[in-house]
Amino acid sequence: MKVLLLLIGAVWLNSKYGSGAPSSSCTHPPAKWCSSMDSAIQCGVLKHCLESNFTRSHQREGQVQVGLYYESLCPGCRLFLTQMLYPTWLLLNDIMSVTLVPYGNAQETTEGKKYVFECQHGEQECLGNMIETCLLNVTNMAFPIIYCMESSTDVIKAAKSCVALYSPELSWKTIQTCVTGDQGNQLMHQNALKTQALNPPHKYVPWITINGEHTDELQDKASTSLFSLVCSMYKGPKPAACGGGKGHFRGTYSPKE
Ligand SMILES: *[C@@H]1O[C@H](CO)[C@@H](O)[C@H](O)[C@H]1NC(C)=O
Ligand SMILES: *[C@@H]1O[C@H](CO)[C@@H](O)[C@H](O)[C@H]1NC(C)=O
Repeated sequence: MKVLLLLIGAVWLNSKYGSGAPSSSCTHPPAKWCSSMDSAIQCGVLKHCLESNFTRSHQREGQVQVGLYYESLCPGCRLFLTQMLYPTWLLLNDIMSVTLVPYGNAQETTEGKKYVFECQHGEQECLGNMIETCLLNVTNMAFPIIYCMESSTDVIKAAKSCVALYSPELSWKTIQTCVTGDQGNQLMHQNALKTQALNPPHKYVPWITINGEHTDELQDKASTSLFSLVCSMYKGPKPAACGGGKGHFRGTYSPKE
């Protein structure tokens, strides 16, 4: 009896703490586990990483490119980004890539050598756009951080803690230096150029492009079920998440502004 109990205990311990769970030498957050061989081994997920890296490299070529031209405080943009774009990307990031361009209906003028920006929802929105622009330039965790900001009550106030949550090694000072300096100014000018180059020109925000193209139909489909749209547009073998082609995921329609 004692032996049997020991045996059961050992099986239980093994299933609880065995190969499935990261070992105690794993000191990286999950998003980083596959970033190197070392961390994959330390975290006990090498097999998973090799497989998912393989699938990814095969799927990357035909990825559906989703572009979002938006501004940080526009309610419709926040709704689309947090309720539709981010959850879809979490499920389908193997077959879709996302380009965020925070600028939207902002206006650009010059003052000496600097660009000056005016935003539809005021100075706070310009600040939000700038923080997000700088994040996109300095960390590959920008999308989760921007999602965190946009889903918070106060987009700007949340920024610092969202950075600490998703990218603890990134110092807030680096962001501030970019936000207040020439680098941010130049990067925002690039966003202005990208937004002005849209064809057809944008008439509202959020303005969505799919593989660089914007039509009313694509905008409507992306707003009502981006998940189905991306699955249907991806030409390669459908990933398991796409299932039988029926959208599992429907978000709320995002009003235009
Ligand atoms: C997965 O791919 C990334 C870049 O594509 C690479 O740096 C990393 O080492 C790969 N991870 C493993 C475990 O092979
Ligand atoms: C960041 O911005 C600099 C210009 O300030 C640019 O050269 C660089 O390519 C950008 N990096 C990324 C990842 O966007």
